Amino acid sequence: QPSLLHKYKGILFSAMSSEELLDSLDSFDAREDDIFLVSYPKSGTHWVAEVIENIPNAGITLTSPIEWGDVSKLKELKMVPERRVIPTHLSYEMIPATVKQKQCKIVYVVRNPKDTAVSLFHYYKDNPNLPSTETWAAFLELWEKHKNDQNVLFLFYEEMKNDFAKSLKKITAFLGISVNDSEMSKIARNTSFNEMKSKVVKENCDPNHTICALTSNRNLVFHVFPGVVGDWINYFTPKQKRVFDEVFTEKMRHSDVGRCLKEYANAV
Ligand code: A3P
Repeated sequence: QPSLLHKYKGILFSAMSSEELLDSLDSFDAREDDIFLVSYPKSGTHWVAEVIENIPNAGITLTSPIEWGDVSKLKELKMVPERRVIPTHLSYEMIPATVKQKQCKIVYVVRNPKDTAVSLFHYYKDNPNLPSTETWAAFLELWEKHKNDQNVLFLFYEEMKNDFAKSLKKITAFLGISVNDSEMSKIARNTSFNEMKSKVVKENCDPNHTICALTSNRNLVFHVFPGVVGDWINYFTPKQKRVFDEVFTEKMRHSDVGRCLKEYANAV
C-alpha cells in the first residue's frame, strides 16, 4: 500500500498534496479579490466556508484547498471565473508570495486547543488519510504575527457559537458585502450544525466537493456529537489537563490569542 503521508520541508502532508504542487505554490498568481480561508485542522473550517457560501449575491466560488492535488491545480484555479474563496491549512510561510504582496483578504479561524485536539483525535481514528500538521501552537504563532494586518480577520470558533450574529456581521463587513437582517437569519439557519450535518448525510462522497485536504468524506467532519464547546472534559483526565495547561501556558506566554483562548480552553 502506498504511503498516505510524505514530508515536505519538514512538514507532514497527506499524499493528496503532491510534491510538485507544493514546489510550484510560489508561482500561484493571486488575484486582488481572492479570499483565503486559513485554519489549523478541526477549527471550524467547513462551518465558516458554509457561512461565506451562504451570503447571497456574493459572487464567489469555494475551491478545494490550494495544497490539494497535483501540478495541474494552479491551472485549475486559474479557470475559476468568479471571486475565489480558497481554503488552506498551509503555514504563513508557505502561503504563495503574491497573496501577501497583493494583500488578499484572509480569514483565519481559531478554536480552543483542547476541543481542537479532541476533534482531531476522532478524525484520526475515523480517517485513513492522516492529516498534515505541525503543532497547533507553532501554526498559530506564525499567523498571529499578522493578526492585526488590515487584510486579515481572526475568527474564534467559540465566539461564533456564542454570538453567531456578531461573527457573521464581522465576516460580511470584512468582505465588504452588505446583507440585510432576513438574509442574516437565513444564513444562520442554513449553517447551523444540524442543518449542515443533515445535508452531508444525504450527500454522496464526491471528491470534487470537499474543502478538506484530508478526506473526501464530509461525514467525518461532523462526528456523532455536535460541534460543542468543552467536549474535551469527557476525554482529558485531570492529569492530562494539568500537563496540557502547563504546556499551553509555556508556549502561549507571549500570545494575545492565547489569553483569549485560555478562557475558552477551560470552558466546560
Ligand atoms: P467536532 O469534531 O468537535 O464536532 P473543520 O471543518 O476545520 O475540520 O472542523 C470540524 C469541527 O467543526 C467539528 O468539530 C465539527 O463538528 C465542527 N462544525 C462543523 N460545522 C459546524 C457548525 N455548523 N456549527 C458548529 N460546529 C461545526
